Amino acid sequence: MTIDTSALIPGLEGVPIAESSISQVDGVGGHLYYRGYSIEDLTQDTPFEEIAALLYDGQLPDAARSAELKQKFEAGRALTPAQIEIARSLATQTHPMFALQAAVAALAPKTNDFDQMDFDAARERGIALTAKVGHLVGVIAQAAAGRPYDGPKPGETHAHMVLRMITGTEPSALHEHTMNALLVLQADHSSANVGTFTARVVTSSRAEPESVVSSAIGALSGPAHGGANEAAIRLFVEIGSPENVESFLAGMVERRERIPGFGHRIYHVKDPRSAVIQRLAAEMIVRDTEQNFYNIALKVEELLKERLGARGLWPNVDLFSGCVFHALDIPIDFFTPIFAASRALGWAVNMKEQLESGNRLFRPTQIWNGEAPRSLS
Ligand SMILES: CC(C)(COP(=O)(O)OP(=O)(O)OC[C@H]1O[C@@H](n2cnc3c(N)ncnc32)[C@H](O)[C@@H]1OP(=O)(O)O)[C@@H](O)C(=O)NCCC(=O)NCCS
Repeated sequence: MTIDTSALIPGLEGVPIAESSISQVDGVGGHLYYRGYSIEDLTQDTPFEEIAALLYDGQLPDAARSAELKQKFEAGRALTPAQIEIARSLATQTHPMFALQAAVAALAPKTNDFDQMDFDAARERGIALTAKVGHLVGVIAQAAAGRPYDGPKPGETHAHMVLRMITGTEPSALHEHTMNALLVLQADHSSANVGTFTARVVTSSRAEPESVVSSAIGALSGPAHGGANEAAIRLFVEIGSPENVESFLAGMVERRERIPGFGHRIYHVKDPRSAVIQRLAAEMIVRDTEQNFYNIALKVEELLKERLGARGLWPNVDLFSGCVFHALDIPIDFFTPIFAASRALGWAVNMKEQLESGNRLFRPTQIWNGEAPRSLS
């Protein structure tokens, strides 16, 4: 194969980085599939634990496999007192995303010799790690709010545990259903988004799984990636009410500022996840503030579709996600950590696929544009 090494492709746009059969993004039609199932179907009422089975096994589980996955999540999420203490201490020092990144790295073993060929072990460790990431988000939320540690309860689903630990209250059936749908919705999004690509690059160096996921959390934290959900709701708070949207956005568009919740490298139609989140947001409206954020999001969508749609910029997953998180009483700082709790599954499954693919070290090249070799004398 001949490769043109003189042409730089910024952002590796359009360059395939893996062969994958986990999740498929159709940017033209506006669809997202996990192992061939649409995200619209899977967010109806498939538990997150069964999505783990689907992504790992390639098919939805029967009753026995489903029960097995639930048991693996329950067993796998256990943290030692020291791990809990580290996470609680980090929570008081830094943004929850960075606390999570460090706390996940601190889950790694004292050895650094992960067996690259033991694919079953990679799967089991990935399931346990996914369960632990959700638990850690809860631990960090409790510490950040000054609450004592109150860990997972026997029989509690992953969605219930994450939401209860973050909010400090017992979730209603609707809230648990919505939390589960959010976790399912963001569990994977092809192998080539920034976070998952990072996970694959770090996997290729034969790093430990905890290091893989910790690195991907760092990648997800940026406002061009996972951090946009936080930016979108902060913008809505600043806008205040639907009547202000037009004047507020006019200024932003004129200054060519990036509006969070809009635009995507792959989707040049409405992001299918945005439509699902919009449905969830509409189901959750109870209080005036929820109605207000929802109306602001609708108005932003209406106006920006007119102004930016022709340039291929459409709502992405983050336009309505803040409305749902707010309705679930989740603090703004925890929007992106929840995204991480969900995407940890996708990173872990991609890690296994990367290992199974032969795991060739990622080592691209550069185009030198600096000094020619020169002498000190
Ligand atoms: C997601 C994102 C990084 C993708 O960017 P990209 O594919 O690299 O697109 P580019 O940065 O090349 O942008 C192309 C053009 O669209 C504009 N654009 C992109 N996103 C925009 C947005 N959200 N609001 C306004 N203009 C936007 C850029 O300014 C650029 O304009 P120009 O050609 O006049 O310079 C980008 O759309 C963005 O920053 N969105 C806001 C953050 C966000 O919601 N992220 C979550 C993604 S799921």
